[in-house]
Amino acid sequence: MLNFKINEDRCIRCGKCITDCPPMCISIQEGDFPVIQDESKCLRCQHCLAICPTAAISIMDIDPDNSIELQYELPTAHSMETLIKGRRSVRKYKKKALEEKTIAKLLETSFHAPTGVNAQGVFFTATTTAEATEELRKEIYTKVGKLLSNSDFDENDMRFQYLQMAYGAYTKHDVDIILRGAPHILIASASKNVPLPKEDCIIALTTFDLLAQSMGVGTLWDGMLKWCVDDFFPELARKLGVPEDHQIGYTMIFGRPAVQYQRTVQRTPPSLNLVSKF
Ligand SMILES: Cc1cc2nc3c(=O)[nH]c(=O)nc-3n(C[C@H](O)[C@H](O)[C@H](O)COP(=O)(O)O)c2cc1C
Repeated sequence: MLNFKINEDRCIRCGKCITDCPPMCISIQEGDFPVIQDESKCLRCQHCLAICPTAAISIMDIDPDNSIELQYELPTAHSMETLIKGRRSVRKYKKKALEEKTIAKLLETSFHAPTGVNAQGVFFTATTTAEATEELRKEIYTKVGKLLSNSDFDENDMRFQYLQMAYGAYTKHDVDIILRGAPHILIASASKNVPLPKEDCIIALTTFDLLAQSMGVGTLWDGMLKWCVDDFFPELARKLGVPEDHQIGYTMIFGRPAVQYQRTVQRTPPSLNLVSKF
């Protein structure tokens, strides 16, 4: 049940909820208030609640007065540009874990990223203590050591070369190239049954990445961790609680940075194909 409700004292019958509804399931009869005729068509995207100029719509029992007003709160284009250009891959972290409320804020907000057909199926698995991450780190390197000594492993596989380098750094110099000494890991996964599991996960992680930067939290998209928990040791994903029927979209590490960048980098100009006539 959607419980689509109109506050008749507030509704001005402007029709914005009707024209903005993606599956066009809201309608209005002359002199009446908007209704949803066929609830099965609704994407549960809440565009009706978001667009209503008088906060007259409640759907799924959500009170529009509890939403954040958009008029005064948006960052400027310049601050967004600085955030995007100033985000860096962080490879040195403070050992101390983040406060649980910071992790919760990051995950809860990132879950608002768009998903195909509004499936909202992204599942975040994060370590919340430095101790848990340390145990995972030890287990990863133990498993990598066994994997590398397995004669079946194809030495031309790029992953083999990287893992060999990482294993040497860890065992000989106590340098952790796979998890970069970070206090937290993050895995985004989604059920293979949602329409776009991989895309949804990547978009959620991209959102996490930018929000983290704005909160003074460093991140790294971690391909080596993905090889470990997805390609080579899926039992680690199970042990962490990633459901068996999930596709892992990607993995990250995060924590307070032990480095501070002073300026943006300057990338080469983008490759563009601008079409003005077709
Ligand atoms: C999908 C993806 C996987 C990555 N995997 C790793 C990794 O395993 N280890 C690492 O040190 N950096 C990894 N990186 C970080 C890239 O090397 C980094 O984004 C790039 O050098 C540009 O630096 P910047 O992010 O600071 O702009 C990865 C980045 C992406 C987007």
